[in-house]
Amino acid sequence: MTGVPEPPENHPDRLRWNERYRAHDGGFEPHPLSSAAAVEGLPEGPVLELACGRSGSALALAAKGRMVVAVDVSDVAMADLRKRAQDKGVAELVHCVLADASEYRPADDFALVLATRYWDPSAFTIAVGAVKPGGLLGWEALAVPGEHEGALPPWHIRHGDLAALVPEGWTVLAEELIRQGHRRFSRVLARKAGPP
Ligand SMILES: C[S@@+](CC[C@H](N)C(=O)[O-])C[C@H]1O[C@@H](n2cnc3c(N)ncnc32)[C@H](O)[C@@H]1O
Repeated sequence: MTGVPEPPENHPDRLRWNERYRAHDGGFEPHPLSSAAAVEGLPEGPVLELACGRSGSALALAAKGRMVVAVDVSDVAMADLRKRAQDKGVAELVHCVLADASEYRPADDFALVLATRYWDPSAFTIAVGAVKPGGLLGWEALAVPGEHEGALPPWHIRHGDLAALVPEGWTVLAEELIRQGHRRFSRVLARKAGPP
């Protein structure tokens, strides 16, 4: 499914996120983008989730019979997701891959590629290239409003950037700016042209 090597133990993202996951339990709720994608309609085929964490989306999609390739740099999150998938009886369908999302090279075409609460431009390019014709891309990232001027905080995008990065010929089905407390998230759902 992938030829990408595991991230080294001193990979800065792996260290940072392992620490966070060790400090906090939970986080198995499905993301609204996974249900929004299902409502829009998905072609046959597997789902790829990049930077999945303890993905409730992967578990929910697998519970509906989808094969999910779940990629994350944190071995702690991957171990927790694998265990939860076993407990839920969907371990056969959730393939956990320990990898840096910016280096992951998908071997399949996917009905849905999902990444939530994450931003990396190389991973976005990889995600776009992994969607099969008629399939969907769902992405959510920390955002500043579109009118924000000046440098962006780390891991943020400007609202509007995601839709602008969706390739020509695709259809943007939804683009939203979500406020949660002091944080904002830009969310986009888009379909690649092709048979549904
Ligand atoms: C804010 S969490 C979001 C987790 C999940 N997608 C969600 O919506 O709850 C960010 C996730 O990105 C993962 N991550 C950070 N850097 C990464 C990288 N370079 N490659 C793959 N995953 C990464 C972290 O381990 C963490 O699970």
